[in-house]
Amino acid sequence: MKTYKIAVIGGDGTGPEVTVEAVKVLDAAAAKFGFKTEKTDFDFGGERFKRTGETLPDSAVEEMKKFDAILLGAIGHPDVKPGILEKGILLKMRFALDQYINLRPVRLFPGVECPIKDKGPEQIDYVVVRENSGDAYTGTGGITMKGTPNEVAVQSAVYTRFQVDRCLRYAFEYALRHGKKARGKGTENTLALVGKTNVLTFIYDLWERAFHEMGQKEYPDIRRDYYHVDATCMWMVKSPEWFDVLVTGNLFGDIITDLGAMTQGGMGIAAGGNINPEGVSMFEPIGGSAPKYTGKGVINPLAAICAMQMMLETLGQDKAGAKIEEAVKFVTANKLKSLAAGKMGFTTSQVGDMVAQKVAE
Ligand code: IPM
Ligand code: MN
Repeated sequence: MKTYKIAVIGGDGTGPEVTVEAVKVLDAAAAKFGFKTEKTDFDFGGERFKRTGETLPDSAVEEMKKFDAILLGAIGHPDVKPGILEKGILLKMRFALDQYINLRPVRLFPGVECPIKDKGPEQIDYVVVRENSGDAYTGTGGITMKGTPNEVAVQSAVYTRFQVDRCLRYAFEYALRHGKKARGKGTENTLALVGKTNVLTFIYDLWERAFHEMGQKEYPDIRRDYYHVDATCMWMVKSPEWFDVLVTGNLFGDIITDLGAMTQGGMGIAAGGNINPEGVSMFEPIGGSAPKYTGKGVINPLAAICAMQMMLETLGQDKAGAKIEEAVKFVTANKLKSLAAGKMGFTTSQVGDMVAQKVAE
């Protein structure tokens, strides 16, 4: 029987509450679909940082390489200055393990209230492939003449052809396998590049050339579209049904996926995968650590459970992933009053129980 080694980093705030529920669902899926898991908990996060001054030591990064996948709850602590934990744990992990794809589905589940009038699950059903290793996230830049009236701050968006190509390849392959045609939901698989070729004439020129070259040569059957990022925000609200698979740089991907999350019912349901297709990937609910709800048993665990679904799909357990998705849809359609913390009509652990039970059926 296949055994997967899973590292679990609950992290800060409500993180540990939601990872417990995701693991509950993982256990139900393992029993049902005939695989085993070995879970190891790690205590990286704000509390450990306050105690030891340590974020994510290099030795921990090495240790993570021995796992098949990582589940992360949330990072961010009210007593720790913003940036320290985010950079020291989350971004360090993404970079050190070269998780160069951030896969973020934007999917409205049945029964979930959508803030956009007249849009339902049929209309909001697309995926953002966010590049996860470059752009303004590389720390390239600096400040000179600090504190003087002439102070200069530079923070460069950086992309290499190599980074762009490997991300595009993943996105084309993803569109081929999971695009709307592949899923029986349309007549074509479409990959759209989201950029800003009218202003960022270096970076998005590179992306656009690489996009069309690869598409023309290797993926002629995938339709190619292009949107400026500002227009993308408009269409995400006005006509989200146009989208299938979107690919974009790190910073634009960060921004548009928060908008996407709101259109799919909020941070309670939005999940993401930090993927290294050749290495160890890390899955997380994309909402924060929600300090004000911590320890109350009211936070929605579905985003963490959907992160678990993505983990299983990435590990090749497609049937288990599909079953989790079905179970989550059952719970949103028939059980939850709302996806919002404290308004679900159930506690965090009751929601986990309901999904786990449905997976076991
Ligand atoms: C995200 C978050 C992170 C990011 C922060 C916490 C560093 O916003 O995962 O989207 O900007 O990538
Ligand atoms: Mn973000």
